[in-house]
Amino acid sequence: MRFPAEPFRIKVVEPLRRVSREERERRIAKAGLKIFAVPADSIYVDLLTDSGTSAMSDHQWAGLMVGDESYAGNRNYFQFESTVRDLFGYRHVIPTHQGRMAENLLFSTVLKKGDVVPNNIHFDTTRANVEHQGAEARDLVIDEGLDPQALHPFKGNLDPAKLDRALAELGRERVPLVMITVTNNSGGGQPVSIANVRAVREVCHRHRVPLFFDACRFAENCWFIQQREPGFAGKSVAEIAREMFSYGDGCTMSAKKDGLVNIGGFLALNDAEWAERITNLLILVEGFPTYGGLAGRDLEAMSRGLREVLDEDYLAFRIGQVAHLGELLLHAGLPIVTPVGGHAVYIDALRMLPHIPQSQFPGQALVVALYREYGIRAVEVGSLMFGHRDAVTGEIVCPKLELVRLAIPRRVYTTEHIRYVAESVIQLYREADRLRGLRITYEAPVLRHFTARLEELNDVEAASATSR
Ligand SMILES: Cc1ncc(COP(=O)(O)O)c(C=O)c1O
Repeated sequence: MRFPAEPFRIKVVEPLRRVSREERERRIAKAGLKIFAVPADSIYVDLLTDSGTSAMSDHQWAGLMVGDESYAGNRNYFQFESTVRDLFGYRHVIPTHQGRMAENLLFSTVLKKGDVVPNNIHFDTTRANVEHQGAEARDLVIDEGLDPQALHPFKGNLDPAKLDRALAELGRERVPLVMITVTNNSGGGQPVSIANVRAVREVCHRHRVPLFFDACRFAENCWFIQQREPGFAGKSVAEIAREMFSYGDGCTMSAKKDGLVNIGGFLALNDAEWAERITNLLILVEGFPTYGGLAGRDLEAMSRGLREVLDEDYLAFRIGQVAHLGELLLHAGLPIVTPVGGHAVYIDALRMLPHIPQSQFPGQALVVALYREYGIRAVEVGSLMFGHRDAVTGEIVCPKLELVRLAIPRRVYTTEHIRYVAESVIQLYREADRLRGLRITYEAPVLRHFTARLEELNDVEAASATSR
């Protein structure tokens, strides 16, 4: 169970406050058992997300000092533009403050009501931005991508046959573009192979529909290609990325992941007419085209991060650290989604807590216990996030999967932190019987997981609900 040691040493430290169990108990109760409402300074290891939580390098911090804050034509933009052109290969480079703004600009420009956007699996903000235009976000991942236990090296692949059928049925008039998300976050951070990208490209080409990437975790995806796909072991991750993007017409990017920055994103594309319309909208809602909602220094940190993320010692450590957490949990018999993806380990809460019915939010019960007992913050991706009440019966309708995601920030936590997390989760697994189900006491009509308040069932309530 070895993985490469950290390819960096620590120059600046951010102290972590360890609050007592009693204080954590008070804080989570005050928050209505809602992990988003717990103040971050009372958390010991924060695995809520890998987005915008990376540690920047000394080279990136130094880049902040050479930020050119001119309103127009700042030098950092030209540096950034040439980095993106070099790595991604697209002609027009439009900076944005984060990924969802790139999505919003693209979809507001090219979609109309009734259109359909196929993708392997849309991330929530991508789906929301497609639907905001009155269009349909259609997920066409391969069947294995929906099975938490299926062992497939590229579970993020988009099914070319499903895509071909959809395009034949809808026609290119209703499908302005196809997207592929690398890695497939909503499917567990699973990678997409080059063979699959080529196959999807061929289908798009035949139907004359452009192909875009949601490129947030492109370097992690290309690392998996190098490790797993025949014919790529001898190529660098940068070469693989260039090849992958060469099959597309553009990409949206949240640089808060593989850009190794705390804020930033972009849209890059080849079509001059789309680029012009998008740039006009950018000026209206985000900023001048050479800063796009960011400071010059942010652009500099982003250019530097985009190159650093391709360092293969870094990627071996990064993917290895996530895999290490997965292996420690698997070794103890914990049910997790396999193979482990690039940025997170997902626990199958239904199998870890079989005594808690899904209607009693076992995933959220685990999230609450992880914080209360060990000061670890994770996020539920299950019945609280995706469940809803049936309009007629009022009963809770639950999603197929009940997962708890442990997302690992980049270059932030040491191996000892990872071991601490593994030991904590394993301890909870051993005492799983002690965990009780929850019920909602308040919920908003939409996106309830951000604001819902919950309470723990007592033993009698839990027993009677289970026996029903
Ligand atoms: C696959 C994917 N696409 C898009 C986004 C949106 O990016 P941002 O949070 O920068 O708006 C995310 C964020 O987590 C993501 O994981």
